[in-house]
Amino acid sequence: MKRLLLVPLLWANVAHGTPAEDYRQYCEQCHGLNRIGATGPALLPESLGRIKPDEVRQVIRDGRPASQMAGFAAQLDSARIDGLVDFLQQPPASPPTWDAQAIRASHTVLADLSQLPTTPQHHADPLNLFVVVESGDHHMDILDGDTFNVLDRFPTHFAVHGGPKFPPDGRFVYFASRDGWISQYDLHNLKLIAETRVGLNTRNLAVSKDGRWVLAGNYLPGNLVLLDARDLSLVKILDTGSRVSAVYTAPPRDSFIVALKDLNEVWELAYADAQPRFEPRRIQAQDVLDDFSFSPDYRQLVATSRKAGGGQVIDLDSGAVVTDIPLAGMPHLGSGTYWRRDGHWVFATPNISKGQISVIDLNTWALIKQIPTLGPGFFMRSHVNSRYVWSDVFFGPDNDAIHLIDKQTLEISHTLRPVPGKTAAHVEFTRDGRYVLLSIWATDGALIVYDSQTLKEVKRLPMNKPSGKYNVGNKIEFAEGTSH
Ligand code: HEC
Repeated sequence: MKRLLLVPLLWANVAHGTPAEDYRQYCEQCHGLNRIGATGPALLPESLGRIKPDEVRQVIRDGRPASQMAGFAAQLDSARIDGLVDFLQQPPASPPTWDAQAIRASHTVLADLSQLPTTPQHHADPLNLFVVVESGDHHMDILDGDTFNVLDRFPTHFAVHGGPKFPPDGRFVYFASRDGWISQYDLHNLKLIAETRVGLNTRNLAVSKDGRWVLAGNYLPGNLVLLDARDLSLVKILDTGSRVSAVYTAPPRDSFIVALKDLNEVWELAYADAQPRFEPRRIQAQDVLDDFSFSPDYRQLVATSRKAGGGQVIDLDSGAVVTDIPLAGMPHLGSGTYWRRDGHWVFATPNISKGQISVIDLNTWALIKQIPTLGPGFFMRSHVNSRYVWSDVFFGPDNDAIHLIDKQTLEISHTLRPVPGKTAAHVEFTRDGRYVLLSIWATDGALIVYDSQTLKEVKRLPMNKPSGKYNVGNKIEFAEGTSH
């Protein structure tokens, strides 16, 4: 179909009060032509995937407090609001695109790196800083991990998505937003350096072990976008023919590993060469493997697989299936963690449909134990100096609880309820493992700092839905117990 020719006709056909006309009149100035976003976020089916239609309806009717999004109850009756809710769930009449030209045009350099000092311009330990994402009002905090004072707080693009990532020296932090904005922030100078919009709907990013490349994975368009880590300028676009679920860096392999949503393949992009070609090595799989974790040496991949009825272990060099691990419910292997127990590596994974944690031996891949919990969980974290693995109960009536599992006995030793009735989730340790930072996921939420030995509260910082927190040292060392 020749869409361009249709445009004048479409304009003629939109009668006053149709959802398309209401969008143009009331929404487009902020949400953009073709709904790809402008000052307001993108409103495409992919963007709204995690939001229930009832919430979309309520936002249009009542707006969002403390934001540019005002309610439209006075202008639009409920039938017209319902019309808009349906309209936003459908793809736009002409499919939105985002090509190399659009990426280059979006690229903004905000500070000249050559003019900035190359040493920390603050007194905190640069390897014990925390980057904290406040998802309630789309801000980021840079926290001193020794004093727990906030060194900087700045606005981000709408909905930071996936974990922020660091180069090996920890100077910068790179992060992605739901609508495809990649940002580079200088942790020495506490300044934003550059931004590029790489897509319309982005999952996450990874930084190469040598700190030279930033790779972003997109749902829309389904591709990978490679940027130069010095200033986020575009290097290459790789079409995947599939939505990209996630990208990872595999330090011992000098490569990126890519999880795909619509193909029975896992991709590897090597970057060891001085001028890497970034030609994908396509590892064939028997199933869609879009949620996975790695063995500590990155030789093997542990993926959630429906066909395997749980998990499947794949050898990354040969591509062969090592074994299936039957696990009931919906294990979320991507947010599992590993540690040493009696000299063996073990791996534990939460389950997003069942209140249980599965512990697996990383040598034999045998299931060692199923630990019953108060409900399905999402995040698990530990530290080499911690006796416990901290695991949240993310779903269900006990989502205010946190289990502390003894790493040796595999029993729940403590269950904390930091703020009864409010979701407690996502912990991260200081670099030395002495303190644990935990989030209360509420608009009037908080970051709570615990002594990891005595379990006493040390400090509480009020925050607006502090969804994730990331310790620079633990991340750049790919420390045991943290997320990768
Ligand atoms: C003045 C600018 C502006 C106008 C006009 C506007 N919006 Fe928004 N809208 C925003 C901003 C900014 C946000 C993000 C609010 C936040 O921080 O949560 C938003 C958020 C939303 C969201 C929630 C998106 C999400 O992913 O959480 C929906 C849905 C929405 N707007 C729909 C509409 C519709 C439909 C219209 C027209 C009837 C409209 N908006 C008009 C600025 C605007």
